[in-house]
Amino acid sequence: MNKMNTNNKVIGKLSGVLLFYLFALLPLSKAQVPLLQNVQAYEGMSLNGDWHYIVDVQEEGYYDYRMKPTRWGFFRNAKPQHPEDLIEYDFDQSPTMKIPSDWNTQDERLFFYEGTVWFMRRFQAVPMQDYRTLLYFGAVNYDCHVWVNGKKAGHHVGGFTPFNFDISDLLVDGENVIIVKVDNKRHAEDVPTQIFDWWNYGGITRDVRLVKVTPVYLEDYDLHVVGGSAADAKGKTCTLAFSARLNKAEAGHKVVVSIPELKLEQPFTTGADGTVSGTLKVSRKKLVLWSPEHPKLYDVRLSLDTSTYADEIGFRTIETRDKQILLNGQPIFLKGISIHNEKPNGGGRANSAADARTLLSWAKELGCNFVRLAHYPHHEEMVREAEKMGILVWSEIPVYWTIDWTNPATYENARCQLRDMIARDHNRANVIIWSIANETPHSTERDTFLGNLAQYARSLDDTRLISMAMEVTGASNYVNRLNDNMNKYVDVVSFNQYVGWYRDVNDAPKMRWEIPYNKPVIISEFGGGAKYGYHGAKNQRWTEEFQENLYIQNTAMLDKIDGLAGTTPWILKDFRSPRRVLPGIQDYYNRKGIFSDKGEKKKAFYVLKQWYEGK
Ligand code: GCU
Repeated sequence: MNKMNTNNKVIGKLSGVLLFYLFALLPLSKAQVPLLQNVQAYEGMSLNGDWHYIVDVQEEGYYDYRMKPTRWGFFRNAKPQHPEDLIEYDFDQSPTMKIPSDWNTQDERLFFYEGTVWFMRRFQAVPMQDYRTLLYFGAVNYDCHVWVNGKKAGHHVGGFTPFNFDISDLLVDGENVIIVKVDNKRHAEDVPTQIFDWWNYGGITRDVRLVKVTPVYLEDYDLHVVGGSAADAKGKTCTLAFSARLNKAEAGHKVVVSIPELKLEQPFTTGADGTVSGTLKVSRKKLVLWSPEHPKLYDVRLSLDTSTYADEIGFRTIETRDKQILLNGQPIFLKGISIHNEKPNGGGRANSAADARTLLSWAKELGCNFVRLAHYPHHEEMVREAEKMGILVWSEIPVYWTIDWTNPATYENARCQLRDMIARDHNRANVIIWSIANETPHSTERDTFLGNLAQYARSLDDTRLISMAMEVTGASNYVNRLNDNMNKYVDVVSFNQYVGWYRDVNDAPKMRWEIPYNKPVIISEFGGGAKYGYHGAKNQRWTEEFQENLYIQNTAMLDKIDGLAGTTPWILKDFRSPRRVLPGIQDYYNRKGIFSDKGEKKKAFYVLKQWYEGK
């Protein structure tokens, strides 16, 4: 969260006006409040566990026969009061599912299901007059409505970003009932649209919890080292920039930030707008910067009035200089791999610290210092575990392929997902790149949409690099030329290329690349498919040898690209996709992983590992 410069204020006003009108179109959920920063630091109660669920294919629980919202919906959790009463649903008699999870892997009848599922659970609560209660979801895919005790808490759209509602006034003393309607049907105006190369896992896919906050709380805060100062080894001191925002525009609240290990403690007092900002000075010699080799995190204490919260924050600078990416002032080559948010073995949405540690340990074994979390924000533990393990992160919103560029509601959806991706992770030192798109066909409308997103991202966070995965579709006379208007909006020019798989099989050695921009280059995808255990000649499609040869030829080709600053080959592990239907080979898996869907290493793993060892 940073001060907005003049231009951004204009955009801020415009998007504010746009936001006002758009929200006039959307049922603005009364209780939705901006995302709480560092939710883990707060007392509360997990609502993970068994939830009853009802599969509602025709939205019987929400619409009447004219498809108008019905007052008699499932959210009322009605029960017969008299023997003659007719109620045609009963959550308590319905099956249960472990939450968080995707329904596709929890009930084999729902493997392909795209539609509405209702969820219900009961919980005990004691309304606390001196506190407020937020209901926090790590993510729900895709469109969800939430009721507490039959009263609407809110509505959220977007499958991969957290959100929270203030439900304090909906709670009763004793047993409460929460009901969630989740609909994962796809639409052309959504983000992503109705076509994407990953499984449409539906449900309450990440943690759910009740969070106890004081009526005035620290809604957001940001603490980072000011770029340049940390790199100036000659400099005697580093500058840490701190800013914070209360959930209310109230002056006179005392905010203290302290880093005990650095013997730093600084009080601030909120202004009339409920914010504080300022700097802390620390001796350059004392401050240990975060890096892949030494992922140093400091215990940071934040207090507001009489409440104190803990966070772990690392300090580093990230910037570009011509075609180099500089971490803490030193050039770095990003030895990466792309990853989907899928469990290490057996499919389904990854959603735990254990899932994250397993996937990231595979990346470490490969020799990676970097991961591209494709194509949407992963669960928070993925970012926090990577930070502890010294792995840099590219984080991305699912503005993927053929987005409805001229639809204001689509832009607002993408903007909110970008806002919430940054809001959750802007204190994570290992996140260095915000990506605003993947492989989007060129057009003026697309450039306008993405140009606005890029400027909006910078208005929220001007301490990180902005990029997107562009695409290079073909070569003439073996010369591949990148030509994308979006080059002026990004700090790092990244693109996907599939020489050796979708085109020019065996021609990688002849290929030359022209990238006419004086910016660092990341190859954000390359690779090819192989069925683990299928062996044969290297020109036989789908054998491990074919994929191995493709990696040998592609890595040699990448070595010739001027300004190459990193790569994230596609992809760590085979993953579920409804677009990959070749029997005996794909069986609804995309097989471009260098690990199989069961975590077995293919021969290409060793080629990439060896190439990284030489970097
Ligand atoms: C595209 C796309 C990926 C997809 C991959 C593939 O580049 O970005 O999401 O899975 O190609 O075709 O396997």
